[in-house]
Amino acid sequence: MSSSSSSRAFFFFFFFLINVSLLLTLSSAADPFVSYEFEVSYITASPLGVPQQVIAINNKFPGPTINVTTNNNVAVNVRNKLDESLLIHWSGIQQRRTSWQDGVLGTNCPIPAKWNWTYQFQVKDQIGSFFYFPSLHLQRAAGGFGGFIINNRPIIPIPFDTPHGDIVVFIGDWYTRNHTDLRKALDDGKDLGMPDGVLINGKGPYRYNDTLVPDGIDYETIEVHPGKTYRLRVHNVGVSTSLNFRIQSHNLLLAETEGSYTVQQNYTSLDIHVGQSYSFLLSTDQNASTDYYIVASARFVNESRWQRVTGVAILRYTNSKGKARGPLPPGPDDQFDKTYSMNQARSIRWNVSASGARPNPQGSFRYGSINVTDIYVLKNKPLEKINGKQRATLSGNSFVNPSTPIRLADQYKLKGVYKLDFPTKPLTGSPRTETSIINGTYRGFMEVILQNNDTKMHTYHMSGYAFFVVGYWLIPSLLYCAIPCFRNQ
Ligand SMILES: *[C@@H]1O[C@H](CO)[C@@H](O)[C@H](O)[C@H]1NC(C)=O
Ligand SMILES: *[C@@H]1O[C@H](CO)[C@@H](O)[C@H](O)[C@H]1NC(C)=O
Ligand SMILES: *[C@@H]1O[C@H](CO)[C@@H](O)[C@H](O)[C@H]1NC(C)=O
Ligand SMILES: *[C@@H]1O[C@H](CO)[C@@H](O)[C@H](O)[C@H]1NC(C)=O
Ligand SMILES: *[C@@H]1O[C@H](CO)[C@@H](O)[C@H](O)[C@H]1NC(C)=O
Ligand SMILES: *[C@@H]1O[C@H](CO)[C@@H](O)[C@H](O)[C@H]1NC(C)=O
Ligand SMILES: *[C@@H]1O[C@H](CO)[C@@H](O)[C@H](O)[C@H]1NC(C)=O
Ligand SMILES: *[C@@H]1O[C@H](CO)[C@@H](O)[C@H](O)[C@H]1NC(C)=O
Ligand SMILES: *[C@@H]1O[C@H](CO)[C@@H](O)[C@H](O)[C@H]1NC(C)=O
Ligand SMILES: *[C@@H]1O[C@H](CO)[C@@H](O)[C@H](O)[C@H]1NC(C)=O
Ligand SMILES: *[C@@H]1O[C@H](CO)[C@@H](O)[C@H](O)[C@H]1NC(C)=O
Repeated sequence: MSSSSSSRAFFFFFFFLINVSLLLTLSSAADPFVSYEFEVSYITASPLGVPQQVIAINNKFPGPTINVTTNNNVAVNVRNKLDESLLIHWSGIQQRRTSWQDGVLGTNCPIPAKWNWTYQFQVKDQIGSFFYFPSLHLQRAAGGFGGFIINNRPIIPIPFDTPHGDIVVFIGDWYTRNHTDLRKALDDGKDLGMPDGVLINGKGPYRYNDTLVPDGIDYETIEVHPGKTYRLRVHNVGVSTSLNFRIQSHNLLLAETEGSYTVQQNYTSLDIHVGQSYSFLLSTDQNASTDYYIVASARFVNESRWQRVTGVAILRYTNSKGKARGPLPPGPDDQFDKTYSMNQARSIRWNVSASGARPNPQGSFRYGSINVTDIYVLKNKPLEKINGKQRATLSGNSFVNPSTPIRLADQYKLKGVYKLDFPTKPLTGSPRTETSIINGTYRGFMEVILQNNDTKMHTYHMSGYAFFVVGYWLIPSLLYCAIPCFRNQ
C-alpha cells in the first residue's frame, strides 16, 4: 500500500577498534595528488515539471564525476553554500587506516553552512565504480551526488577490451517535495508515501505515454556510435525504491560491481537496490531503426499507480532512424515472488582471476578456513513511533547521533559519548534509543546476519569496509543474508 520511508534506507555501521592508537591520514607522497573544488549550493530545477530546490555541485545536478587512478591521493575542497550543515560521504571508498575522511556523522564534524573543508584520502588498492552523496539531513533526497571512478593503474590490465566510452548513469526515486519538507514529514511521524517519479541523471521520464508522462519534461539522452562497446556505470542513488534497470533490445554484460570485477554474464535486466553500483558493457549491436528506451522501474510493487514512478531515458545511435516508440520493454513479472530477484543476485560471481586490486591480503579466498571472531544478528522491523517520531530500529535499538563524533570522543578520551554495547542478538521488549556501537575485534573477521522482518525491501550501507555476501535465504516472512566482514589491514 504505502511506500517505504527514507529513514530506513541507509544505516551506517561503525566498527570501532579500541586498543588501536588513532592514526591520522597516511598517504604516500610518491603517489600523485588529484584535487577537486566542490561548491555545494541549492539551484532550482524541475525534473518532474515542478520547480524545486535541488542540491548542485558546481551548479551541476548530478555533480561532477571524480575520476582517479588506484593509489592516487585525492583532495576535495568542499565549500558549503547551503543553509545547513553538510557532510559528503564517499560511498564504497575504503577509508583504510583512518575513518576521519568518511563524511558520516559518527566520525566527522559536519561542515557548517558557509564554511569549507578539504577531504583528503588515498584510494589505496581499490578499483571500480562508486559514488558520493551528502549524508546528513536527508539531503541526498535533494541531490548532491556524483560519480567516483577509480581506474586500474596503467600496468594492470582490465579484464575486457578498453571500452569506446565511459558513461555514468544515476537512477533513483524522487519526490517533488524538497528534503526539508520530507524531513518534516518523518519528524511528524508520517510516512513519506510513494515517490513522485524516478530520475535518470537528474532528469524526468521521456514521454513514452501521453497519459502517464506530462508534456514538457526534460529527459536524458545517451548518444552512442553503432558497433562499439561502452561501459555504463549505473548507480541507484534513490531514497528507498529498488529499481529494475534495462535497455530495450540490448543485453547488459555485467563486468564489475562496487570495486570487484565479476564473471561476465549477460542480463536483459538487473535489479539495482538503493546504494548499489554496477558496470555493464553495452554493445551497440542493434540496427538503429529507432532510438531505444532505457528504463528504471520500481520493484516489488503491485499497484498500477507505480507505473508513473518509472524512469525512462533514451539510447540514441548516431545513425538512428527515428524516435523510440511503443510500450516500454517489460521488467520481470514476479511481484508475488522475490526468489527471482534473489537468484539473480546469487548469479553474480566474483572473477577471482581478474587482475585488479586485491582488497584483502588476509586470505579471503579461503573462505572455509576463516576464523570468525564476532557474529552479529541484526534484525530490522517496520518503523516505530518513538517519542512521536517515526524511527527505525535495529535489533531493538534506535541509534541516536551523538553530539560529539565518536572518533573525536576517542581521541580526546571523552567518556559517555557512546556505549559499546550493541547486542549480538536482537533485543526483545520495547525499543531503546541509544548511541550503541558494535564492539569489533581488531584484525578479526565478523559475520553479520541481516534479518529483514519488515514487509518491504530494506537496504543497508556498510560504510568503509569490505564485505562479501556469503549467502541469502528466503524463509517465510524473513530474509536472511550473512556477510562476513574483512577488515583491510
Ligand atoms: C500488494 O502489496 C502489498 C504490500 O506492498 C501487500 O500488502 C498486498 O497483499 C499485495 N497485494 C497482493 C494482491 O498481493
Ligand atoms: C522547501 O519547501 C518549503 C515549502 O514547501 C520551503 O518553505 C522551504 O524553504 C524549502 N526548503 C529548501 C531548502 O528549499
Ligand atoms: C578553504 O578553502 C581555502 C581556499 O580554497 C583553502 O585555502 C583552505 O585550505 C580551505 N579550508 C579548509 C579547512 O579546507
Ligand atoms: C576473468 O578475468 C580473466 C582475466 O582478465 C579473463 O581472462 C576472464 O575472461 C574472466 N572470466 C570471466 C568468466 O569473465
Ligand atoms: C576517466 O578518465 C579516463 C582516463 O583516465 C577516461 O578514459 C575515462 O573516459 C574517464 N571517465 C569518465 C566517466 O569521465
Ligand atoms: C498509456 O498508459 C495507460 C495507463 O497504463 C494505458 O491505459 C494506455 O493504453 C497507454 N497508452 C499507450 C498509447 O500505450
Ligand atoms: C552477451 O550478449 C552479446 C550480444 O548482445 C554477445 O555478443 C555476447 O557474446 C554475450 N556474452 C556472454 C558472456 O554471454
Ligand atoms: C531492426 O531490429 C528490430 C528489432 O530490434 C526489428 O523489429 C526490425 O525489423 C529491424 N529492422 C531492420 C531494418 O532490420
Ligand atoms: C584458525 O584457527 C586455527 C586454530 O586456532 C588455526 O590453526 C588456523 O590457522 C586459523 N586459520 C586462519 C585462517 O587464521
Ligand atoms: C570489547 O570487546 C573486547 C574483547 O573483544 C573486550 O575486552 C572489551 O571489554 C569490550 N569492550 C566493552 C566496552 O565491552
Ligand atoms: C517477525 O515479525 C512478526 C510480527 O510482525 C513476529 O510475529 C515474528 O515472530 C517475527 N519473526 C522473527 C523471526 O523475529
